[in-house]
Formats: sequence, C-alpha cells, structure tokens
Amino acid sequence: MNSKHFFSLLVITVLVFNCSAGGDDPSSPDPNPNPNPNPNPTSVTYNGKIKGIVSNNCLTCHGNPTANGAPMMLTTYALVKSAVETRGLLVRINSTTSPMPQGGLMSQANRDAFQQWKDQGFLEN
Ligand code: HEC
Repeated sequence: MNSKHFFSLLVITVLVFNCSAGGDDPSSPDPNPNPNPNPNPTSVTYNGKIKGIVSNNCLTCHGNPTANGAPMMLTTYALVKSAVETRGLLVRINSTTSPMPQGGLMSQANRDAFQQWKDQGFLEN
C-alpha cells in the first residue's frame, strides 16, 4: 500500500468513526423535558371534573331555574359541596332505589369522582 492509499483509508476511517459516534452528544435536547406536568394527576377538582359531570347529568333538573320538581340548584361549587354535605348527594348517586339522576346510575368512574372529591377535601381548582 502506498502512502496515498493509506492516507485515503485514514480519512475514511476518521469520517466513519465521527459519524457513528455522534449519538451521545450531551448537549442534545432532552426528548422528554417535562414528563410530569401535573404534580398530582389523581386529584379531583370541582372545576377540573365535578362541574362537567354535574353539567352533563344533573342540570336539566338542578339548573337555574330548577325543573321537574328538583328541590335545589347544583350550579356552583358551593351548592354542589353543600349538597354532598347536607343533602346526601353521595348516597343518592349510588342509590339503586332512588338514584340521581332518576333515569339510572352514572358510570362507576363518575360516581368515584364525587367520592374522591369529598375525600380530598372538596378541591375547587
Ligand atoms: C330528571 C330530573 C333530575 C335529574 C337529571 C337529577 N335530579 Fe336530583 N332530584 C330531582 C328531583 C325531582 C328531586 C326531589 C325528589 C327526590 O328526592 O327524589 C331530586 C333530589 C335530589 C337530591 C336530594 C335533595 C334533598 O334535599 O333531598 C340530591 C342530592 C340530588 N337530587 C342530586 C342530583 C345529582 C347529583 C344529579 C346528577 C348526577 C341529579 N340529582 C340529577 C330531579 C333530578
């Protein structure tokens, strides 16, 4: 092998080595910079969850104004919280004999959300 060929081989070897060694650059951006944006994803809040469930399942009767003989509104945080504390809301949404809504029980997930909301201290946001 003459020196010209040796030099070419050397250049190719260096190029190949550089290209294949490029993956570990410590300055490359983190592919997952914010893996946990919500520090407590299991917490149930009024604005995050309960309000939407009430809106979809209760407000046709417990809206403003109330309808179909419903005795109270469930249109605000304070009113829903008060219904849990003083009107047996949790009992009624899990009742098979007098369920709320009257048409039939909501999904287990929706009912669990109310229980968690109470257990976690009625978080608003
Ligand atoms: C189709 C109308 C209707 C819907 C929908 C409805 N309710 Fe009612 N609700 C009533 C009526 C009428 C009463 C009063 C008669 C009774 O207690 O069964 C009542 C009573 C209640 C009571 C007892 C109040 C008390 O002081 O005795 C609670 C708690 C309640 N509803 C919660 C809910 C919740 C929570 C939802 C939604 C998940 C809901 N209701 C959906 C009509 C409705």
